[in-house]
Amino acid sequence: MDRFIEQLPKVELHLHIEGTLEPELMFKLAKRNNVSIPFDSPEQIRQAYQFENLQSFLDIYYQGAEVLIEEQDFYDLTWEYLLRCQQDNVIHTEIFFDPQTHTDRGIAFETVINGITSALKQGEKELGISSQLILCFLRHLEESAALETLEQALPYKDKIIAVGLDSSEQGHPPEKFARVFEKALDEGFLTVAHAGEEGPAQNIRDALELLQVSRIDHGVRCSEDPLLVERLIQEQTPLTVCPLSNIKLRVFDTMADHNIAELLRRGLAVTINSDDPAYFGGYMTDNFQAVHQALSLTKQELAQLSVNAVNASFISPQAKEDMVSKIWHYQDNY
Ligand code: ADE
Ligand code: ZN
Repeated sequence: MDRFIEQLPKVELHLHIEGTLEPELMFKLAKRNNVSIPFDSPEQIRQAYQFENLQSFLDIYYQGAEVLIEEQDFYDLTWEYLLRCQQDNVIHTEIFFDPQTHTDRGIAFETVINGITSALKQGEKELGISSQLILCFLRHLEESAALETLEQALPYKDKIIAVGLDSSEQGHPPEKFARVFEKALDEGFLTVAHAGEEGPAQNIRDALELLQVSRIDHGVRCSEDPLLVERLIQEQTPLTVCPLSNIKLRVFDTMADHNIAELLRRGLAVTINSDDPAYFGGYMTDNFQAVHQALSLTKQELAQLSVNAVNASFISPQAKEDMVSKIWHYQDNY
């Protein structure tokens, strides 16, 4: 089954590019850019990755991002991630970036987006990996800051398919950004939002109603609201679930307690994603393996998770059809 999972064609829909910063690259960029970090080696950085909850992770994650200064740094970060995609047979990826994490430190929006998109272009050309970019607003910051960021994004509309919402969920509900998302929708962006990761099921309802999202990022706490689960099944709302992240951030105690298999078997459009793989100990294949080992998914169910991701992606109907047949063909002939 290890080889089946490794070679299964995959689509990633929940990946923070800043969360792919491996300790080795962090260490290298800190030196290259003369940024001081409180670690003497990549091993020491790795040892510091013990988290109690979402906030304890975010504190370390925002600190780590401070080594990213030049366009080349964003390029290197993205290119390293794409090489991991190639290893895991990820054929399409939709990547989040958090401009405010960088613009608040004086890095130009343009520097960030140019570095990321030039690597994505090369990834499409040389590795055959297609991609889309999703701008996330940091929900712990003010509505006015998100509106400013949206303004900065307008000249790059052709490079950004959607806007999203991430960072500290508790205390920062979807309604805080209803007007920002309304404007983003008016400007032609699609919308997604992190909801029901650490926050209550009500945040999932509000993201659907107030932010008009096409997908819910995480969404695993939907199980606390049976009527909401029924609605998610009926409407086939995609959930971008991140299994290893959920264990590292203690959303579930162990993988055996994770609800992804139950949600899949009930007919929800769940998908598997890696979130912040450099911090949570695994990329796409590792996430599929961990879920398979703990919850005994069949080959058919693993392929279904991949097909769900294709159907939930922001690519053309023709590209979806091609990818779906590729996955079933792989499953049928393995
Ligand atoms: N930013 C990066 N990873 C995140 C997560 N899992 N939840 C919220 N914000 C994030
Ligand atoms: Zn996330």
